[in-house]
Amino acid sequence: MTSLTISRPDDWHLHLRDGAMMRAVLPWSARDFARAIIMPNLVPPVVTSAQAAAYRDQILDALPQGAAFEPLMTLYLTEDTDPDDVEAAHASGLVRAVKLYPAGATTNSASGVSDFEKIRATLDRMAKIGLPLCVHGEVTDPDIDIFDREAVFIDRVLDPIRTSTPGLKVVMEHITTSNAVDYARAQDDTLGATITTHHLVINRNHILAGGIKPHYYCLPVAKRESHRLALRAAATSGDARFFLGTDSAPHTDANKLLPCGCAGCFTAPNTMAILAHVFEEDGALDSLEAFTSRNGPGFYGLPVNADTLTLTKQPGQWPTHVDTDDGPVTVFDPGFDLQWSVA
Ligand code: DOR
Ligand code: ZN
Repeated sequence: MTSLTISRPDDWHLHLRDGAMMRAVLPWSARDFARAIIMPNLVPPVVTSAQAAAYRDQILDALPQGAAFEPLMTLYLTEDTDPDDVEAAHASGLVRAVKLYPAGATTNSASGVSDFEKIRATLDRMAKIGLPLCVHGEVTDPDIDIFDREAVFIDRVLDPIRTSTPGLKVVMEHITTSNAVDYARAQDDTLGATITTHHLVINRNHILAGGIKPHYYCLPVAKRESHRLALRAAATSGDARFFLGTDSAPHTDANKLLPCGCAGCFTAPNTMAILAHVFEEDGALDSLEAFTSRNGPGFYGLPVNADTLTLTKQPGQWPTHVDTDDGPVTVFDPGFDLQWSVA
C-alpha cells in the first residue's frame, strides 16, 4: 500500500496551553485533526464553564486563517466543582468531558482531587446527563512505585468509582499497561481508553538506558516492553474501546532539560506519520481509521468527520523543533525514519 485515505482524525487528549505556546503548537494539531479534546490543566486551571468559554475563544482566535478545527472543551474537576455549572456547560454544548486529576499526579494538578467523596455529587450528575469523565489514572501515594501507579489506581480508585456510579461514561486516559488494557477489555461500552502515539513507540529503556532522555519523559511514565506490546495490540485491534489521544504536551526545552524537568512528549507535528508506520509494521493499516477517526466519535456520541486525510508512503519531513516566543520545543523523535507523510 502506498496511499491511505481515512476519515479525518480527531485527537481525544491534547494540551494546547495558552499564550505564545498555544500560538506556536496549535497550527500543527489543526493541520491533521478536525477536533480535539482540550485538556484544562492551565495555570490557573479551567474549572468553571465561564473559564472554558473564554479558553475556547482564545483557541479559536489563535487558529490559522481557514483552519477547520473544533476545540472540544473540558472542565478541570475540583472538590469545589458545582454540579449545576457542569450541567449547564454540557447542555449548551460547550463542554464535552470533565477531567479528573488526582491531586499532585502530574503537570499542574495541584487543584485536583484528594477526597473522592467530595466529587460524588458531580459524578452522579454526570452519569445522569451522559457527560464523560476523563481520568488521569495514577495514584499519588509516595509509597507506590511510579511504575505501579496505574495498576494500583485501577483497583483502588477507578473500579470503586465505576461500581458506585453506574452508567458514568469514563475514559481511561493515556493508558500505559497491560493491566489497563485487560481492565478496559472486560468493561461494557461505558468505558473507553485513549492511547498516545509515544506509548506505542517507547518503553522505559528508551528513557533510561544509555543515558537519560528527558524528551521521552512523560506521565504516566512508559513501562516495560511487554506493556508497550499490549498497547500496540489494543490500538491495532480495531476494538471500539480504544482510540487515539496523543497527550501531545509541549514544554520548552528549557523546562524539559532541568534537574527536575517537566513531563510531556510533543507529538502533534508527526503523530499521523508515526501511527502509519506503527500500524503498517503490525500489519494493521486497515485498522488505523478505527483508532484515529471512528472509535473516539463513537464513544463521545459525535459524528465521524465527513472530511478525509490522506497518508502517502513518502519519507516524511518534520521539524526537530518548533519555535515559540518562550523558546524552542523539541518534537518527539520516534527513533526510526518516517516512511509515511500526510499528503
Ligand atoms: O506527560 C504528561 N504531560 N502527562 C500529563 O499527564 C500532563 C502533561 C502536561 O500537561 O505536560
Ligand atoms: Zn495529558
